[in-house]
Amino acid sequence: MIAERIKATLGADTLKLELVESMPKQRVMKLFQGGKQVLFGDMPALKPYQLDVYQYELLILGGPVWVGSPAPALMNFLQQTKFSGKKVALFCCHGGGKGRTFSKLRDALSANTILGEIDFPNVSKQDTQKLNAKLDAWLKDISTR
Ligand SMILES: Cc1cc2nc3c(=O)[nH]c(=O)nc-3n(C[C@H](O)[C@H](O)[C@H](O)COP(=O)(O)O)c2cc1C
Repeated sequence: MIAERIKATLGADTLKLELVESMPKQRVMKLFQGGKQVLFGDMPALKPYQLDVYQYELLILGGPVWVGSPAPALMNFLQQTKFSGKKVALFCCHGGGKGRTFSKLRDALSANTILGEIDFPNVSKQDTQKLNAKLDAWLKDISTR
């Protein structure tokens, strides 16, 4: 939802990271399997994607928080697609505790310039207008940096 709004607001291209083996639909199973992946440092395989990061002026990376960390798909992407010297902005969505998500992303992106970071707690329960206003203000801010 956040990525779609960013796409609509900036006219950005988007890349959705998809796992070869999709996660269970059932919440408890997803929590269990996803939690295990993070705790054991698993990197579930991503479906192939085409991306030339160097054709973009700004990369906005984000996704859900799992066990106080970025979901493994994003970490796997950063391991597979190395880049440096880019302007990057970060977002995450969570249920109330973002933990070390941004510090882990910053570590993985240390060869780049991080323009900003923003987190969205309980997205599905938030008022859409307020959510959009918060996101739009952040996009405006990072676009001027
Ligand atoms: C495996 C797993 C671990 C999660 N760990 C956290 C967490 O540590 N902190 C938190 O606030 N939310 C946590 N969540 C909630 C997700 O961040 C939240 O569900 C997500 O941002 C919204 O995406 P979804 O609706 O696709 O799950 C976790 C969710 C899953 C599936």
